[in-house]
Amino acid sequence: MLEIARTAAEVRAFRKRIEAEGKTLALVPTMGALHEGHLSLFREARARADVCAASLFVNPTQFGPTEDLSRYPRDEAGDFAKMEQEGVSFVFAPKDAEVLYPEGEETRVEVAALSTRLCGASRPGHFKGVATVVLKLFNLVQPHVAVFGEKDFQQLQIIRRMVRDLFLDIEIVGAPLVRESTGLALSSRNAYLQGEDRERALGLTRCLQAMRAAAVSGDARGSQALIELGRGVIEEHGLVLDYLDIVDPQTLQPIAEIGGTRSGQILVAAFCGKVRLIDNAPLA
Ligand code: PAJ
Repeated sequence: MLEIARTAAEVRAFRKRIEAEGKTLALVPTMGALHEGHLSLFREARARADVCAASLFVNPTQFGPTEDLSRYPRDEAGDFAKMEQEGVSFVFAPKDAEVLYPEGEETRVEVAALSTRLCGASRPGHFKGVATVVLKLFNLVQPHVAVFGEKDFQQLQIIRRMVRDLFLDIEIVGAPLVRESTGLALSSRNAYLQGEDRERALGLTRCLQAMRAAAVSGDARGSQALIELGRGVIEEHGLVLDYLDIVDPQTLQPIAEIGGTRSGQILVAAFCGKVRLIDNAPLA
C-alpha cells in the first residue's frame, strides 16, 4: 500500500518509523506527470534500499515568471497508481506550497558556479529553486540514498555538489536517461508537443547522434566543428537552439579540444515552438 503524506509532520512520523524498524530508505523526488523515466528511478531506488519513498511537488521556486508553472501537467491520482504499481511505499505530496514554503521562510541554497551556465543561463534562479527544494526534502525525509535521472544532467551535478559541500550523509545515484523507441528523451513536457512537433523534437536526438558519430569517426575535430554540425541538425528540424555545448561531465566547463579519451558530455537545449526541451549524451 502507498502511504500518502500531506504535511511535514506526517513525513517526520514516517521517518521515525523507518528508524525504529532499522530500515534503509531511498528517496526519488519528482514533479509528477510520471513516465517510464520516473518509473526507472523507482526501480533503481528499490534495488538500493529497503524502502522506496517518492515526493510529488511542482516546485514554484524553480519556475521563472514567464514559465509553465500554472499549466505544468498534473495527474496526481494517476501518479499515485503508478507509484503503487512500482512498489513505492510512501509519497510526500504536500497539500499546498506553504507546507514547504511557510509564511516568512526565506532561506535559499545556491550552488554558485555550476548553476550559472547552460540551463542556468537561460533560466535564472531555476537551480536555486531546485537546490532549495531538494535540501528541504532531504532534511524532512532524511533518506540514505536519493536517485536522480541523468536526463537532467546539470541538475544531477548540482545536487552532487550540494551534498558534498554541505556534508550531507546521502548517497546520490544517477540513473540512465530513458528514451522512447523513436529516440526522443522522455519528459513530462512532451505532453505539450502537438502533431508535427514530435517529429521536430527528434532534432535533439539526431543532433546528439550526428555529433557522436562525427566524433567517433574523426570526421569533425575540435568542439567547435562538432557544435556547428549539431547546430545545423537542430536548425534543419525547425528548432530554435538555446544552447549546445560539450562539457566536462563533473565541472560542466566547456571542453575546447576533444582529447584521446573523449570524456566530454554533449548538452543541448532547444525550443520546439514554445516548448523548451533538453537532452544530453556522452560524446563517446
Ligand atoms: P522531474 O522533472 O519530475 O524529474 C524527476 C526525476 O526524474 C529527475 O531526477 C529527472 O532527471 C528524472 N527524469 C525525468 N525524465 C527522465 C528520463 N527520460 N530518464 C531518466 N530520468 C528522468 O527534476 C525534477 O522533477 C525537479 O527538478 C525536482 C528534482 C523534483 C525538484 O523539484
